[in-house]
Amino acid sequence: MTHPLADDGQIGDVPPPVRMYEMLYSSLVSQLLIAVAELGVADAIGDEARHIDDIAARTDAHPGALYRGLRALASVGVFTEVEPYTFGLTPLASTLRSDVPGSMRDLALYVGLPDRQRSFGALVHSLRTGKPTFDHVHGTDWWSHFAAHPELASLFNNAMGSMSVMVNSSTLDAYDLSHVRKLVDVGGGHGRLVASLLQKYPEMTAVLYDLPRVVPEAEAVLAELGLADRAECVGGDFLESVPAGGDTYVVSWTIHDWDDDDAVRMLRNIRAAMGDSGQLIIIDEVPPEGDTPHFGKFEDIVMLTLLTGHVRTEAEFTDLFERSGFRHKETRPTRAPTSVIVAVPA
Ligand SMILES: C[S@@+](CC[C@H](N)C(=O)[O-])C[C@H]1O[C@@H](n2cnc3c(N)ncnc32)[C@H](O)[C@@H]1O
Repeated sequence: MTHPLADDGQIGDVPPPVRMYEMLYSSLVSQLLIAVAELGVADAIGDEARHIDDIAARTDAHPGALYRGLRALASVGVFTEVEPYTFGLTPLASTLRSDVPGSMRDLALYVGLPDRQRSFGALVHSLRTGKPTFDHVHGTDWWSHFAAHPELASLFNNAMGSMSVMVNSSTLDAYDLSHVRKLVDVGGGHGRLVASLLQKYPEMTAVLYDLPRVVPEAEAVLAELGLADRAECVGGDFLESVPAGGDTYVVSWTIHDWDDDDAVRMLRNIRAAMGDSGQLIIIDEVPPEGDTPHFGKFEDIVMLTLLTGHVRTEAEFTDLFERSGFRHKETRPTRAPTSVIVAVPA
């Protein structure tokens, strides 16, 4: 495979120092997205393009400064300056509205949490030690910090809800679950995946399993969607045990939070809870080996910085399964960065 860095040091037509300059400043895109999400700019613009003075008045912002922010974001396809000083939403900007299905605004607010951002500012600690920078910066681990700050935990779960809406529709298209009768979603969060599955498959019932403090929030989401009669929410610790009786166990966007020993503990608990004819479905990123670009390689840095887990290749998943009584059956890519990884009892 040809490396993008050609022999003369050029990357395409861009000299490496110029490309490096752009890459070093690329976090400003993220910072600006967080800032406009905090201000509620996408909601303020809505369906009609608006003059910057109007947008600034609606968001309590400084018109000149907000103009510079929106102009920069318009240059990367977020917002569009339809005429001088008048901005509308692009499809990308629309994902920051709070009133759209699959809104990414909560995710933007979560990514912008100062506690989280401080960890990325000191990421070199993780590269030096292999340990989470979050613990180094805050003197406590991620999960304990969130347990002590319920308002952050709620934002985290809302953000995971945004992610799961993005992941779920792609997963539902990629893998047929019409044969499933009772599904257990392990670490099911706010129940967005359970909700999508129950809506798609009217014969299915589900158990959502998560930490006790998350359960009332999941119950509220499922009740609001009219699904409470087919979904039971159970609180507990998947490192200790998992509810029995499902024919399919799903672990979505969760196993990468954990190191191999804890991941094996969780999977063994699932194996113990599952009959011999059950199946395990993991929804997660599975980056290819080598230089091939894949978003999972950056999600892995989030895990390195905040937690003790890591994003796994297919070979690493196969190894995990072998250690916990499963056999890898197949991996299916989806339109999202996640794949559907299926394992069955060994
Ligand atoms: C990254 S979130 C993913 C949530 C959901 N599966 C999704 O796709 O949006 C991880 C979930 O695992 C839950 N969790 C963390 N530790 C747990 C434990 N020891 N036992 C049960 N659930 C746990 C968290 O509360 C959270 O809902």
